Amino acid sequence: MPDTELVVAPTLEGAVRWVADTIVDDAASAIAERGSFHLCLAGGSTPRDLYELLSSPLWRARVEWERVHLYVGDERYVGTVDPRSNYRMIRETLVDRILVPPRNVHPIPTGSRDPDVDAERYESVLREKLPAGPDGVPRFDVVLLGLGNDGHTASLFPGSSALDETTRLVMGVTPPMAPTPRITLTPPVINAARRVIVLTAGALKAGALRHMLAERGSPHEIPCRVLDPTDGRLCVSVDLAACSELDAEPLHDGIVTIRL
Ligand code: 6PG
Repeated sequence: MPDTELVVAPTLEGAVRWVADTIVDDAASAIAERGSFHLCLAGGSTPRDLYELLSSPLWRARVEWERVHLYVGDERYVGTVDPRSNYRMIRETLVDRILVPPRNVHPIPTGSRDPDVDAERYESVLREKLPAGPDGVPRFDVVLLGLGNDGHTASLFPGSSALDETTRLVMGVTPPMAPTPRITLTPPVINAARRVIVLTAGALKAGALRHMLAERGSPHEIPCRVLDPTDGRLCVSVDLAACSELDAEPLHDGIVTIRL
């Protein structure tokens, strides 16, 4: 396991606020140094509050949105108006409320009737829009992720072959126990990011967080253990409730805890 910054806030609100501040700061330095900021967003329900905070009247002026590119880390294979669509949630809570140029918004396509074809298309978008990192892999400035109760992150589920992928950056996958196929970013492109942030909260995530930070464990059982930025930082922003099982077993020794 890599060095991990574990940021513990009393509540989800505090965890969200830390992530929002980090995104604002990373955006400012990326824009100053490289002229643009490439941010990959998570789906699920936890980041809603983050997107609503970032797009609120007091916060949205803190980011130069016209120089930001937005991407999505995984998507259900449904249309963009479907209530299950991650992009729909991101559009409603963030994109529609900020002055980001439409050409800078890059949702995962889901229209070809074949998830593998759309995955390849999205990989071409990443290769065209993102600067290449040290190993030639397209490099996000920040990848934001969530954590499932079973330890999944993006749409990397336990036992999935996508966890072993070394070449493709985007893949079509079939989640266990779910009828709808998905498209997900793969570990090589997530781990090429300058910063990977996992935002999670609540007692239901306590088991997954404990397994994520434990000394031992395999990504095939706990997929978030695949997160290991090659030349970037891994930050995990959580509330106290999610930490309730962290005393249950030895954690890996690369964790730096910041209590808010
Ligand atoms: C999704 C996400 C998934 C999510 C986790 C946590 O589209 O659902 O890709 O990885 O981040 O399941 O979801 P919650 O934030 O809803 O708990």
